[in-house]
Amino acid sequence: MSETPPPIDRLPDERARAPRPMAKPGILDITPYKPGKATAEGIENPAKLSGNENILGCSEKARDAYVAAAGQLNVYPDGRGGVLRDAIARRYDLEPDRLVLGCGTDEILHLINQTFLEPGDNIVQGQYAFGAYGIGARACQAQVRSAAEPNHRIDIDLMLELVDERTRLVFITNPANPTGTFTTRDELARLHAALPPGVVLVIDAAYAEFCTDPTFTDGLELARTAENVIVTHTFSKLHGLAALRVGWAYAPLPIADAIDRIRPPFNVSIPALDAAVASLADEDFQARSLAHVERWRPWLTQQLGGLGLPVTPSGGNFVLVEIPRTTGRTAEGAEAYLAARGLIVRGVANYGLPDHIRITIGLEEHNRALADALADFLRA
Ligand SMILES: Cc1ncc(COP(=O)(O)O)c(C=O)c1O
Repeated sequence: MSETPPPIDRLPDERARAPRPMAKPGILDITPYKPGKATAEGIENPAKLSGNENILGCSEKARDAYVAAAGQLNVYPDGRGGVLRDAIARRYDLEPDRLVLGCGTDEILHLINQTFLEPGDNIVQGQYAFGAYGIGARACQAQVRSAAEPNHRIDIDLMLELVDERTRLVFITNPANPTGTFTTRDELARLHAALPPGVVLVIDAAYAEFCTDPTFTDGLELARTAENVIVTHTFSKLHGLAALRVGWAYAPLPIADAIDRIRPPFNVSIPALDAAVASLADEDFQARSLAHVERWRPWLTQQLGGLGLPVTPSGGNFVLVEIPRTTGRTAEGAEAYLAARGLIVRGVANYGLPDHIRITIGLEEHNRALADALADFLRA
């Protein structure tokens, strides 16, 4: 005769009392990354201006290369990503062996954190830093230290004050997201000179191609000779290949070698490698993408400023706009109002900016619609 087993919570033995699977300490304290919204309720084809993607799409040559790669879906990619590695090295005059290719910069940032951080270490970043740095650091049980950014700008001295003997990584986004501000060549050099040689300076240059100010640098010139500087770049922004997930880092050889040991071996797919190579060669598309941002970024800055909405000067393909409380309106209200008009922008309260919205530079029609809609919003 079979007996019905007792319910699990009444099991008297040790098995019932044994702990259940648990994430490592700290993991459940991590606030998950919140991507920009992609839909607006009741609107069929909204303009997505929330993800800092390339509003012009991507290079046709990149698309052709992607389609052509469909004939090779059954094979693994070259784990070294040789064709892309060599193309990047040629284009930027870099040593191929010092490059690390990743499934987006996102993966590279995680790999950097995993390579350097032990529990109890810390990273130093700006107050409004891109969320991925802190997520990866916390996953390694490291502490995240954020220096105040007066006027939405990195302050080198405030960052240096937070560096101590357990600091392993210092992150600078240049230009920064979501603020759009940038750190100058001189400031970067001063920061680097003041850091202990054992601390790695990571310069995330995801938006660098959009910043043409003569005092700006993506950090590659510093990284060429320094033993502790990593620069990351992405194909997601200027090249418009965000869906394919391709990023790269330039690091000192021993660091590139260390990161490569934990990199998943086939992390960049064949369609992604081929499309990125084709895009790199399509200088016309890159020039058009930059020209578009250079045309409309000042226009939006001026128009929104004219409505009494402060816009932080931006070196990226987006602008950070304040909805001052004195207007009697809120940033959340602006986001909802614009969404109802088919314009999806990004609320940035999760970055500690509850009174701001971030707007990716759109097509002419989007930018004009935005300026009109915000004028109506303030009147409503
Ligand atoms: C500052 C910054 N770094 C890195 C990334 C991630 O880029 P990727 O698409 O290469 O992972 C983004 C994406 O928005 C970003 O804004």
